[in-house]
Amino acid sequence: VELIKQGYEPIVVDNLSNSKIEMLEQIFKITGKRVKFYQIDLLEKNELEKVFLENENIEDVIHFAGSKAVGESCVKPLMYYENNIMSTINLLNIMIKHKVKNIIFSSSATVYGTPKRVPIFEEDPIGGTTNPYGTTKLIIEGILQDVYKVHPEMNIAILRYFNPIGANETGLIGEAPNGIPNNLMPYITQVAVGQRECLSVFGNDYDTPDGTGVRDYIHVVDLALGHIASIKKLHENSGLVVYNLGTGKGTSVLDLVFAFEKANNVKVNYKIVDRRQGDIATCYADCSKAKKELSWTAKRDIVDACRDSWKWQQYYTKNNTK
Ligand code: UFG
Repeated sequence: VELIKQGYEPIVVDNLSNSKIEMLEQIFKITGKRVKFYQIDLLEKNELEKVFLENENIEDVIHFAGSKAVGESCVKPLMYYENNIMSTINLLNIMIKHKVKNIIFSSSATVYGTPKRVPIFEEDPIGGTTNPYGTTKLIIEGILQDVYKVHPEMNIAILRYFNPIGANETGLIGEAPNGIPNNLMPYITQVAVGQRECLSVFGNDYDTPDGTGVRDYIHVVDLALGHIASIKKLHENSGLVVYNLGTGKGTSVLDLVFAFEKANNVKVNYKIVDRRQGDIATCYADCSKAKKELSWTAKRDIVDACRDSWKWQQYYTKNNTK
């Protein structure tokens, strides 16, 4: 949506394993534009190449495709390594063959493992990931570094996302996780709408102001705009660049619950339970590098995100857009 709004002509490639074809219609409702769409799995390299054969003028690739559930990755490690890593290798080979030079990769704050300090800076050590999902992000970052060494003509932006929440402000596009949500915001919205009884807050004995985990929640529209700022950077022949995309602010689980209740005037039942294995106390970004080099900062706050997530959840529940 943000690309279209700024005059780009995106082509969407998705295998629809964790997304809905109806979203193309939602994009049309918001923007009045139809996007070209290919239902292709990136593991099918011949299929993927067709996209590049049929669209000779592709300038940039934003590589979001990948499996992203931490818990599932521990149960199905090989599926995660195959899906995330092989798909990236296929994509890079095809890009190189077709001389498409610019790629943005969705990485994650998870590559920092247990951070040695907060806020986290891009030059802080990476590694020590605690699950296969996180390790795939780390490995792909390494692959991109190695490919850049032999293809210095490429421009590569590695974007380390912190915790994306929120939805398009129209409430027409948002997150609809399969099954029980792993992440905090979709869990909160499902409790608020009455689909689930009670949020479990995983631990209140962390070394944080209220004892619950602290994260850097970034509105998904700000995150999208961070990608557009990165495309502009790639077009200046940036080479390989790495940016944290966050807000620089830490918010606790209970801060987010209370902000949601206040912003939307709804009740969110919660109970404190044991810590979730693998969670860290505090994680938030230093975002000064993106501000300086991309002229980008997150403009929306958690109140905006709570309002937009709630709008989406209500729309989705009512229309059950599958
Ligand atoms: N939480 C709860 N109850 C829930 C869900 C989450 O209390 O039902 C808490 C967690 O303990 C944590 C905070 O809410 O303190 C945020 O949890 P999320 O699962 O929403 O997000 P994480 O920070 O654990 O995970 C995110 C991404 C992962 C990524 C990770 C590290 O979802 O993809 O950051 O970068 F690996």
